[in-house]
Amino acid sequence: MNKFTAVQETVIRRRSVKPTVLNGKKIDDLQIRQLLDLANWAPTHANTEPWRFVVYSGNAVQRFCHEHAELYRQYTAPDKFTPAKYEKQRHNGDKASHLIVVYMKRGNNPNITALEEICAAAAAVENILLGAEALGIAVLWSTGGMLLHPVMKDYFELGNEDVLLGMLYMGYADEPVNAGKRGPVEEKTSWHR
Ligand SMILES: Cc1cc2nc3c(=O)[nH]c(=O)nc-3n(C[C@H](O)[C@H](O)[C@H](O)COP(=O)(O)O)c2cc1C
Repeated sequence: MNKFTAVQETVIRRRSVKPTVLNGKKIDDLQIRQLLDLANWAPTHANTEPWRFVVYSGNAVQRFCHEHAELYRQYTAPDKFTPAKYEKQRHNGDKASHLIVVYMKRGNNPNITALEEICAAAAAVENILLGAEALGIAVLWSTGGMLLHPVMKDYFELGNEDVLLGMLYMGYADEPVNAGKRGPVEEKTSWHR
């Protein structure tokens, strides 16, 4: 397999896998470290390396999910609160092996915009997703639940300009994932010659 074919296959086969279909099997911490190392090679304007990771494993995964669900209860108006959503957040990680929260840590280089640092951190996430696909690890990148609520920034003790990018639920799945679906790239491209 040539280099392009290997990349193409990994990119196209990568799928989001819901944490509810994970089978509970644990990922070796070494592989998580390898994925974080891939993330660390994302492109970064002016070398600010703004990606940050909070890794939960073992009982800490369920502990985080419980606290996340409690924040949902605490910060949701009673008329908006639904027990089903609470239970979903509470149990989303039950069969996950690891959960990685990713955020952008805003640097102090005045020439680099927040947008550039968000882009770099998002590229770091994609590196994790592609590496995981190559290792047979299932991942869901989620911004669900309270993740984008301001209280989560306090929870993670983030600065004002830091930005949470998502939670990555990680594990193994027995079920084959569905083929992905994308509209034609031609509709999203203009060429100028
Ligand atoms: C920034 C971001 C946030 C996402 N948040 C969620 C989420 O909260 N819940 C969810 O089910 N999927 C979430 N996804 C995954 C998308 O649903 C998924 O990428 C899309 O359905 C395309 O499927 P694929 O990744 O298998 O190609 C998110 C994806 C991105 C890029």
